[in-house]
Amino acid sequence: MDNAENRMQPADALVIFGATGDLAHKMIFPALYAMARRGVLNVPVVGVAYSKWSLAQLRKQATDSIRQAGKIDDRGALDLLLSQLQYVDGDYNDPGTFQALRQALGDARRPAHYLAIPPALFATVIQGLGAAGLAKQARVIVEKPFGRDLASARELNRVALSVFPENSIFRIDHYLGKEAIMNILYFRFANSFLEPIWNRNCVASVQITLSEDFGVKGRGAFYESAGCLRDVIQNHLFQIVALLAMEPPAYQGFGAVHNEKARVFQSMRPLKPDDVVRGQYTGYRKEPGVAKDSDVETFCALRLFIDSWRWEGVPWYLRSGKCLANTAAEVLVELKPPPQRLFDDSVSVDGRANYLRFRLSPNSAVALAARVKRAGKEFVGFQRELYLLDEQPGEETPYERLLGDAMAGVGALFTREDAVEAAWAVVDPVLETPRHVYPYKPGSWGPKQADALIKADGGWHNPVLEQAPK
Ligand code: BG6
Repeated sequence: MDNAENRMQPADALVIFGATGDLAHKMIFPALYAMARRGVLNVPVVGVAYSKWSLAQLRKQATDSIRQAGKIDDRGALDLLLSQLQYVDGDYNDPGTFQALRQALGDARRPAHYLAIPPALFATVIQGLGAAGLAKQARVIVEKPFGRDLASARELNRVALSVFPENSIFRIDHYLGKEAIMNILYFRFANSFLEPIWNRNCVASVQITLSEDFGVKGRGAFYESAGCLRDVIQNHLFQIVALLAMEPPAYQGFGAVHNEKARVFQSMRPLKPDDVVRGQYTGYRKEPGVAKDSDVETFCALRLFIDSWRWEGVPWYLRSGKCLANTAAEVLVELKPPPQRLFDDSVSVDGRANYLRFRLSPNSAVALAARVKRAGKEFVGFQRELYLLDEQPGEETPYERLLGDAMAGVGALFTREDAVEAAWAVVDPVLETPRHVYPYKPGSWGPKQADALIKADGGWHNPVLEQAPK
């Protein structure tokens, strides 16, 4: 796969808007340190924020953030990063902030502007960059959520495209930078055994669970404006669906992958209220920043159909939630049972037919469940998994990979305007008039109403914490 298609020249400076914020602290500084360690961070890094900080404070914050993310085992890399760091303090509504940024950028001609800021400020900063002449030959890296519905995503795309060309807009969905998720694309199209069964003839249903055993972790105010459907389903889980459901790319290039992924979203049937079950964990309303009578969902389960030749009639079930029983992400592709029931136990005791399981986190694996005969006179058996893949050491973190790609000008692992809008079009009908939100106990698998949604297809498969077989 050629991921250098339409490659731009590498950026010669990195600007981080929101440098004093949470995302920079948790993700960006550790990623920059990892890049410095690998010797691929050779450009000035300019932090911008409106915090009345000094450069010394930002350096300290960067060091703390790297320390919290892991060990500082390469002092030289840390010193390099700190020596490249600069800081501009100012209001994003003030043109003076962008003039100060221009000064700080000095001779840099191709800066990458990373917007690690609340989505409400995206348009202001993009327009500020355009007005200050800082968008020429530059690129912009935008964090999710990209819009909060179809109309706002369209508007944001309009603003972004009025200042930057599409190939200079890098929309981040960090799930696309995860090894296990990149492997879905590879596994599907680097093997030939899957294709004959990968369709409505053999697949009964597909389900995807992204469960987290923690709450909103101090992000109550953000979460109130998002909810589970917007926070992880319309983006992270939909991206996984697209990789599982897409047709083979027409040629060896990521433009072709983007085309096929966009087609999946375009073939998805827009959701109806009956397709969605929302839940909220008990105690959410007491979280800081959360309204006492909030009806924002911290759990969401939905049923989806892709009206395409390949997937017609196959239900796709997606589920995610905070404060669930454990933290894991898993896909289960359930296969249809054999056409004739020759053995009494053709379907396993727990009612599961053969399946293919993509374990995405915390470990990564692909497993194929098949029935094998138990020793003895009787033709009875049990279901065993062929465990196909395990983790490999030395993986880059998603932020390290995506930041490096954006700096290098490689757009393969970013989302495209048409795909983002098509994905919003699917969820838009249920955003405006959401149904009742059902309470659930922290540590459970969400409200029982979500079980009814998938009952006809054997129920939810709850991911277990597993150890890879030796
Ligand atoms: C983020 C969401 O995009 O993804 C969070 O805003 C969520 O709410 C996180 O916890 C999950 O990402 P990961 O990589 O930890 O599975």
